[in-house]
Amino acid sequence: MGLWKNLNEVYEFRRAKQNLLNSVAFRIDRPLTKPENVTFLLTHGCNLTCHMCECGSVGVNPEGGGYIVAKRDEMTREEFAHVIDQLDEWGVRNLIFSGGEVLLRKHDLLALVRYAADKGFNTTVVSNSLSWNEDLAKTVADAGLTNFTSSLDGACAETHDKIRGKVGSFDKVVRTLRQFEALKQAYPRLSTNTTTVVQKDNWRELPAVCELLTDCGVGCIMYQAVSGDYPHLLVPLEELDELKGVLARLLEMRAAGAKIWNGPEYFETLPRYYTEKLVNQGRFHLGNCLAGYDNLIISPNGTIDICGYGPHGVSLKDVPLLELWHSQAYREARERIAKCETQCLYLCYQKTDVNQLTKQVSGVVNLRRRGAAQLSHARVVANDRSTRAPSTPPPARPSNHERGQGWPNAVA
Ligand SMILES: C[S@@+](CC[C@H](N)C(=O)[O-])C[C@H]1O[C@@H](n2cnc3c(N)ncnc32)[C@H](O)[C@@H]1O
Ligand code: SF4
Ligand code: SF4
Repeated sequence: MGLWKNLNEVYEFRRAKQNLLNSVAFRIDRPLTKPENVTFLLTHGCNLTCHMCECGSVGVNPEGGGYIVAKRDEMTREEFAHVIDQLDEWGVRNLIFSGGEVLLRKHDLLALVRYAADKGFNTTVVSNSLSWNEDLAKTVADAGLTNFTSSLDGACAETHDKIRGKVGSFDKVVRTLRQFEALKQAYPRLSTNTTTVVQKDNWRELPAVCELLTDCGVGCIMYQAVSGDYPHLLVPLEELDELKGVLARLLEMRAAGAKIWNGPEYFETLPRYYTEKLVNQGRFHLGNCLAGYDNLIISPNGTIDICGYGPHGVSLKDVPLLELWHSQAYREARERIAKCETQCLYLCYQKTDVNQLTKQVSGVVNLRRRGAAQLSHARVVANDRSTRAPSTPPPARPSNHERGQGWPNAVA
């Protein structure tokens, strides 16, 4: 019993167990687990216009005056809190607040982080870092935040600001990460993550991004492929060989201790994914997609719409979460997901193939063989990982045809 409890606290063990159960669930068409992480997209509105993301154009009044439109349909703070109550009862422990840009709902964000943290959730806030300052960082740390995740899309202002559509945004990211870093001593549970979307304009800078983020004290540096329909942003075919060299350099840095989340499998797959996207237009098949079993991304209006496949038309404003999770509508959405043909390197793309599971299980067995002392060390590391977890939520796609919302926990 003690050993089982210990094992359950080990991230790798939990993931292996979850993947195994989800593989079975996929075959019997019935969820057997709860999601490891749940994301609240507080809003689809945003104060940036990043060129790889659709949120930038959502909610902005074309006549000026900023963000107005997306607010219309958003769940209230109380409605989100009610979902937190249900997640708590269900036993979900990791909650991620993202968007759009979360700080467009600053007061709701702070209140909800506090509410969730008081109930014992690990809480992550994902932000573009544009609107933070020292006081706000301290306030959210006081509220109990365990992880701050920022995007960074270049190693210099020129690149990042170009991608993000706003001069000065690079400086804000660096300053904000340093502000959170400065708080870590007073708030030992607090960690920082980053996400960098690997694209045409920044791939040469990826090692420099890592160096900069290491200097900022970032605990988990994640690189993510461009998803969705942005062929002009992909690394062009003629540059892919050079990209492979850069990714190999990242792996060397990782081996030397850099806190890069992605492992060899992801970096080997990424150029292949871009090639497939640019050339073949066919399905990029890595395994069965478990997005319907392992993920829960709740849209601002309380719906869950996995990559545009539904379950359509049902909002958590009206229906209890577990009722929806086990509903016929959700089952039909899972069936549509199973047939998804989108080329996708979303990290939610959990593999259900035997090799991957064997690898995971043998990883856990090795951990076990290394004995109890190692196990308890692993538990500490694992706990660290579960809050620092690859936690960048996917780009929110407000349209009904959104594609590729996903989770960074399969192809590490
Ligand atoms: C949608 S944003 C929301 C949080 C916040 N506004 C931010 O920029 O960090 C979440 C993450 O998705 C990434 N993202 C946006 N569009 C993407 C795309 N087409 N492919 C892959 N990642 C994307 C962003 O760079 C960011 O790291
Ligand atoms: S990536 Fe983030 S900051 Fe950029 S437009 Fe999308 S939601 Fe806004
Ligand atoms: S697009 Fe969505 S549903 Fe399709 S494989 Fe990717 S994560 Fe799964």
